[in-house]
Amino acid sequence: MKNIAIDGPAGAGKSTAAKIVAKKLGILYLDTGAMYRAIGLKALKLGINTRDIPAVEAMLPTTSVEIKYVDDVQNIFLDGENVTGLIREHAVSMAASDVSAIPAVRLKLVELQREIAKKNDCILDGRDIGTYVLPDANYKFFITATAEERANRRFKELMEKGQNVSYDEVLTDIVTRDRNDSTRAFAPLKKADDAFEFDTTTMSIDQVVEELLNRIK
Ligand code: DC
Repeated sequence: MKNIAIDGPAGAGKSTAAKIVAKKLGILYLDTGAMYRAIGLKALKLGINTRDIPAVEAMLPTTSVEIKYVDDVQNIFLDGENVTGLIREHAVSMAASDVSAIPAVRLKLVELQREIAKKNDCILDGRDIGTYVLPDANYKFFITATAEERANRRFKELMEKGQNVSYDEVLTDIVTRDRNDSTRAFAPLKKADDAFEFDTTTMSIDQVVEELLNRIK
C-alpha cells in the first residue's frame, strides 16, 4: 500500500491540501486529528477534566471511534453517533490536544490509523504520522507557517461556520496547542528526519498542493 504522511502544527494547511491531493491521486484521505477530537468531545460531554489522566483512561474501554466514508468524505462516529460536525467546535480543539498527550488514548487511535493505512492507499495528516504511526511511509512531509498566519486561517474558517470566537482566542489556542503537542512525552509533534519540510505562510493552497504533488511524482 502507498502511504503519504503530512505532519505539522494546527492551521499549516495540511488538511485542505491533503484532501485535494487525495482526490487528484484517487486515494483515501485520513484526518487523524478528528479521532483525537472525538475522544476530547466525549470527555467534554461527560464533564471529565481532559487533563485528568485516570478519568480519561477509565472512559476508553467504553468508547468507540469509527471512521466511515460517505461519498469519499470522512465521517467520524463516536459511540455510534455521527459527530463529524460537532468535533469542529472551537472548545473541542484544546480538549483534543489535552487527551492526545495521554499514551493510552494514542495507542487506541494509532491502532485504528495503522489498520486503515494497511488496507488502503492513503494520505494521512496529523502530528506523528511520519515519526510514529507510519515510519515507513512512502512520502513524508512536514508543513509549517507562522502562528499568526495559522491563526488567521483558523479564524476565517470558524467565522464562516458562524462560531463566536475572537482572533486573539484563536491565536492563544494555536500557540498553547503547539506547545502542548510538541512537548508531550509520547509521540510529540516533530519533523521526521526523512520528511521534506516547507513553510506555507506565503503560499496559496494551490501552491501547497502543487509542491506536494511535484514531490510525490
Ligand atoms: O489536526 P487537529 O487540529 O484536528 O488536531 C487536534 C489535536 O489532536 C491536536 O492539537 C493534537 C492532536 N493530534 C495528535 O496528537 N496527533 C495526531 N496525529 C493528530 C492530532
